[in-house]
Amino acid sequence: TTLDLKLESIEKSGYQHFMLKEIFEQPKTVFDCLRGRLYADEGKIILSGIEQYLPEITQAERIIIIACGTSWHAGLAAEYFIEETCRIPVEVEYASEFRYRNPIVKKGDVIIAISQSGETADTLVAIEKAKEQGALILGIVNVVGSSIARISHAGAYTHAGPEIGVASTKAFTAQLAVLYLTAFKIAQHRQNISEEKYLMLCKELEAVPEKTAQILQLNEYIETIARKYKDAVSCLFLGRGYNFPIALEGALKLKEISYIHAEGYPAAEMKHGPIALVDEKLPVIFIATKDQYHEKVISNMQEIKARKGKIIAIATEGDTITPALADDVIFVPEADEIISPILNVIPLQLLAYHTGVAKDLDVDKPRNLAKSVTVE
Ligand code: G6P
Repeated sequence: TTLDLKLESIEKSGYQHFMLKEIFEQPKTVFDCLRGRLYADEGKIILSGIEQYLPEITQAERIIIIACGTSWHAGLAAEYFIEETCRIPVEVEYASEFRYRNPIVKKGDVIIAISQSGETADTLVAIEKAKEQGALILGIVNVVGSSIARISHAGAYTHAGPEIGVASTKAFTAQLAVLYLTAFKIAQHRQNISEEKYLMLCKELEAVPEKTAQILQLNEYIETIARKYKDAVSCLFLGRGYNFPIALEGALKLKEISYIHAEGYPAAEMKHGPIALVDEKLPVIFIATKDQYHEKVISNMQEIKARKGKIIAIATEGDTITPALADDVIFVPEADEIISPILNVIPLQLLAYHTGVAKDLDVDKPRNLAKSVTVE
């Protein structure tokens, strides 16, 4: 009815789609997620939901992260920074695989379940199983009072507010924000990182909402890039280290929203297969921000260029090497490599969104997908 339509347009607060609105909410949702938890100047992180279990968590022999979809990508990103800062071994599991394979779980293991809805059936059953086997369950969940939140021993809400777009955006960055807080808190408790590095990471995390807002100013520019490549049949997303999981997430977003076949790969693995796909019609999206892998990513880029692939690169402001190789460059503000994934995903969300819109697709409700998968 007209009333329904009017209501919907009010809820979208002027945006054409929920997805775009939710992408643009991220400076605020990440800020809300950090508020009352991160005191960067004092070097203090308060996570009241897990405080009580801190001794157990800091002594964990290993951490197993369980999730599905985009939440699984947040988990994979966390593996990199938890292992680096906390020096606790981390495994990241697809809930559907974990639950059916008689997994080895014991007391002393800490399970982190990540879920926007808190209702994903596979994730729920997987953690029920791990709980029976004596593991401590921490839930990182967006929906307050949801099943996964209730079954967890402890946890932290992501406070991103309701996410309507089927493809997850603001819930993902909020998950990362909570995972950073958790990692840095454990790292400090275990004295795994120097006070100096800890303080630097807290400051970098605090700067994320502001830098996210800066990246969102590229919206119209990213739209022009999306229009240029919208008729691609297939796309490759490449990244290394902290940003390999972001390559996976970028590919997932694009396929969900634009129905273009997309694959994410660790940049160095491309020569073991995907390079066979490269020709002048293949767009390759590189996450090429400044980090310890930068030179290696540049040489991967040269390999694509030599085969006439089209290169779209996410690069750090001021970088002059990447623009010489790429067909299109999206510059993002400088950030520590550990924090860079939460920023680098933003242009990829916009790229997927604008590609879907350019193809006239229903970006808020892509075909065949559901917001919350409560059946297995
Ligand atoms: C569905 C949604 C995805 C989401 C996944 C996991 O596939 O479309 O956006 O990432 O489920 O959902 P959860 O609610 O557990 O994060």
